Amino acid sequence: MPYRRVTLSQFMMEEQHRCGGSGVLTSLLTDISVICKMISHEVNCGALLGNLGMEETKNIHGEKQKKLDVLSNKIFMHIVTKSKNYAALASEELENIHVINDSVSQYLLLFDPLDGSSNIDINNAVGSIFSILRLPNDTNCSTLVAFLQPGINQVAAGYAIYGSSTMLVLTTGNGVNGFTLDQNIGIFGLTHPNMQISKDANEFAINASRSRFWEPPIKRYIDEALSGIDGPRSKDFNMRWVASMVAEVHRILCRSGIFMYPVDTKNIYHGGKLRLMYEVNPMAFIVEQAGGLAITGYERILDLKPKSLHQRIGVILGSKNEVEILYRYHKEYDRMHN
Ligand code: AHG
Ligand code: MN
Ligand code: MN
Repeated sequence: MPYRRVTLSQFMMEEQHRCGGSGVLTSLLTDISVICKMISHEVNCGALLGNLGMEETKNIHGEKQKKLDVLSNKIFMHIVTKSKNYAALASEELENIHVINDSVSQYLLLFDPLDGSSNIDINNAVGSIFSILRLPNDTNCSTLVAFLQPGINQVAAGYAIYGSSTMLVLTTGNGVNGFTLDQNIGIFGLTHPNMQISKDANEFAINASRSRFWEPPIKRYIDEALSGIDGPRSKDFNMRWVASMVAEVHRILCRSGIFMYPVDTKNIYHGGKLRLMYEVNPMAFIVEQAGGLAITGYERILDLKPKSLHQRIGVILGSKNEVEILYRYHKEYDRMHN
């Protein structure tokens, strides 16, 4: 890494001085960066460390766990439990919240230890997602209520992507910055300062195998996009589907676009597919901090008051003008049918 590059630690110290902070946020994010380096190593070595394949167990969502889902969750828990920087944590892989240190720390950590884990065995990109909340005054962190805060309350959020390089992308509510891991020296360097999502886009990501279950506003948007330059949108669109939300959001931060995992007639019973508190909220915070937008179709994601820790939700996020078109299509449909 060139010596002139700003490291993640230097960046966090600068932010801390700028905000007149006490250094707590720096400690919280240092934990995250250590965790991501450790997971990156395990993902990278893959079969060499015997890390591919399934466990016998299922998680709270009834999904079969991969070895790396379980291992990544253990790494998060180990580092955070030892450092005692967080009061309590919640994970995609744990049914209940886990209290660590409710007498000193004022912060709560929520995470998806490994996102897109169907990609592990085929050596495609996976990631980790995290969200940090402040413990509300007069709330005991050992209660679930402390966690059920709208996404707008997030103090910081981000993701690590374990792709052709490992990156940590994060926001503390003051824009989005991306850091690339130099594997040789184990240091993240600032490579993507002030990441921005352009307002317009012509690339969408949706699991098209579910098209027969889509609601009419989604069908309308995709049909119009597919009709290209001769259709009502008067432009050609491209399509991608990585099956890892981290990889999709990262692509959108790098070259714009839109990602959708909407509520459809098949997943409506569960409220959608993706989990609000540790997948969708942190990504919505990142996307909005980069100038994009994140909605369910009818509502802004960051304003939602969560109902439960593992609540699922429909999500449409990315380039603002495209997301606003989808918002309008939902409104128009609603008006015609209600
Ligand atoms: P996870 O691996 O944490 O369970 O999350 C996978 C999620 C998300 O990252 C991705 O966009 C989506 O599930 C993929 O869903 P399909 O299997 O329908 O493609
Ligand atoms: Mn996930
Ligand atoms: Mn996961």
